[in-house]
Amino acid sequence: MQRTDAETRINQLRDEIEFHNRKYYVDASPVISDKEYDDLLAELVRLEAEYPDLVTPDSPSQRVGGAPISGFTQVRHAAPMLSLDNTYNKEDLAEFDRRVAKLLQGEVYEYVVELKIDGVAASLTYEDGRLAVAATRGDGTTGDDITHNAKTIKSIPLGIKELPDALRGKRFDVRGEIFLPLKSFRRINEERLEEGAEPFANPRNAAAGSLKQLDPKNVSKRGLDMFTYALVADSAAFRTHYESIEALRGMGFKTNPNIRLCNNIESVMEYCNYWEDKRDSLGYEIDGMVVKVNSLAQQAALGSTGKAPRWAISYKFPAKQATTELVGILASVGRTGAITPVAMLAPVQLGGVTVSRASLYNADNLDALGINVGDRVLIERGGEVIPKVVKVVEKRSDGVFRLPDTCPVCGGAVSREEGEAATRCINVGCGAQLLKNIEHYASRTAMDIDGLGPKVVELLVSNKLVHDFADLYALKAEQLEPLERMGRKSAENLIAAIDASRDRPLERLYYALGIRHIGAHSAEILAARYNSIDMLLQAEVEELTGLDEVGPVVARSLHEFFRGEQNLRVIEKLRAAGVRMEQEPKLPEKPRIFSGRTFVFTGALTLPRSEAERLVKERGGKASSSVSRKTDYVVAGADAGSKLEKAVSLGVKVLTEDEFRDMLS
Ligand code: IVH
Repeated sequence: MQRTDAETRINQLRDEIEFHNRKYYVDASPVISDKEYDDLLAELVRLEAEYPDLVTPDSPSQRVGGAPISGFTQVRHAAPMLSLDNTYNKEDLAEFDRRVAKLLQGEVYEYVVELKIDGVAASLTYEDGRLAVAATRGDGTTGDDITHNAKTIKSIPLGIKELPDALRGKRFDVRGEIFLPLKSFRRINEERLEEGAEPFANPRNAAAGSLKQLDPKNVSKRGLDMFTYALVADSAAFRTHYESIEALRGMGFKTNPNIRLCNNIESVMEYCNYWEDKRDSLGYEIDGMVVKVNSLAQQAALGSTGKAPRWAISYKFPAKQATTELVGILASVGRTGAITPVAMLAPVQLGGVTVSRASLYNADNLDALGINVGDRVLIERGGEVIPKVVKVVEKRSDGVFRLPDTCPVCGGAVSREEGEAATRCINVGCGAQLLKNIEHYASRTAMDIDGLGPKVVELLVSNKLVHDFADLYALKAEQLEPLERMGRKSAENLIAAIDASRDRPLERLYYALGIRHIGAHSAEILAARYNSIDMLLQAEVEELTGLDEVGPVVARSLHEFFRGEQNLRVIEKLRAAGVRMEQEPKLPEKPRIFSGRTFVFTGALTLPRSEAERLVKERGGKASSSVSRKTDYVVAGADAGSKLEKAVSLGVKVLTEDEFRDMLS
């Protein structure tokens, strides 16, 4: 494409993409499919790669294209970002209204009432209609520069197409709240629990934590959003706050639709009551309402105290907390085997619903709370689907509850890795993990069973046709045929695909078993070293740790997996079903005479160092570069120096190269 044509097309694509961003992220009414949107973006990225000098900072391609930053710089706000005084009841609200009336000396006034979004306040500075800087509130005067992260939020316009005349050529700030929708919050916490990381306490912390990330690529995955609620410009562009919100909406900003003009404090209260009841129906958290005097002239007349405006106030909802008795703790097993303690409670009313369960997250949290059955506890409902236990208010039991050391679903072995919060069931046949394990086994990079996707796995499991992936090999076409949307032909195809998977290369099987931390790459490394599953089964942790790219975490995970009786049973079923469990040795097998032994080579040897190390590893041993008490042998060549000295001082056996060669034969 000619340069001028490319430029025209690039501009056209940018407009189209931002139009669709607005439709999707601001108006929540997309007009094209995700695929069509992705295609437009891909075309833009392709053209910009061809003409890099045509890339502009406000191109939609730059939303996630930013490089990670090394730290946050400080931004001084053009006008201070004030906070709000709080009220907690109707009397305080009436008191606020009396103060306003008095200060306005009989003038007529009205209020705008808005939701108080529970997130992180941010200020977006636009210059010439383009987003120049985004910053957090900080101390109100200066905040962190979060431009790289704010750009990933698709409801924030990078450039404004329809700028009101009053703002043309001006620099102005748009303020609002960056928040995490509940759906994203729950997804992130689920992921964190599965990964063994601490869950975020609430959506606000999750939003704040996300904005502290240095790499915008991580932030774009979080699903942050922003409601804007103020336009700060020095020109007298608008008459009322309400008009400025409408202008923001017209410029493409996302503003909250739940906003009401009220001409007396009674109707303000009524609107506050309405949302106090309905707060759970929103897809995001609010912690109260904000009441603002509508006229900007009156706002100016009322002014502010150092910290908060006199023309606005927040009405905070009571925290959704209650105390009750902990009657039991249930260990629940998730889809990926993570075992989480769940509090069983004496039923209690909380924010209009009866609650009888609460999250306890993990074993560390049990310790931190010092909790056991019988205690009286404080529970709180935040963004989670089920409430969480905040603390023990009255200790009535002894000690702390311990999670069981076998899986409550299958009775299999559980494991908790160092530095991980999650305790997991590591049994491939565990009923709780069946769907995930079979899906993984059948996946393309594992045993590659065509036609065995999540829907079919679900059917097989719910019809009790399989209880682990080894059962797949016993299936008959006649059993599959009656299943929903199956039919004769697909049933036969599936059986043929299962049949074909018996003969997959060994590394596929190593991967397909679903051993934690064994990805496709580590499976290949294992297959290069162990020609049969029986050899792998017998490998000791030290030996596994000595393999290239296999660290202690992977080694321990393998070792634990193969110690699980139920895992061994499934492996035997696979063997009986004729699944390939060995391969032609790539190299003649060496006797494993160095199993569990560590060697250090030092000084000038006739053998190249790498070759000497290979000889050790081939025989099950480990080569290290430094001498310690754990070293078994130091092989010293001519001119050996400090390593030899250390070996002597630690009493480690020292060999000559010839003695080492003798050991090999
Ligand atoms: S107006 C000068 N409106 O609440 C007035 N604030 O406790 C500035 N907030 O820092 C704030 N929703 O982060 C305003 N609709 C809304 C709001 C809102 C949430 C937050 C904001 C502010 C805090 C004050």
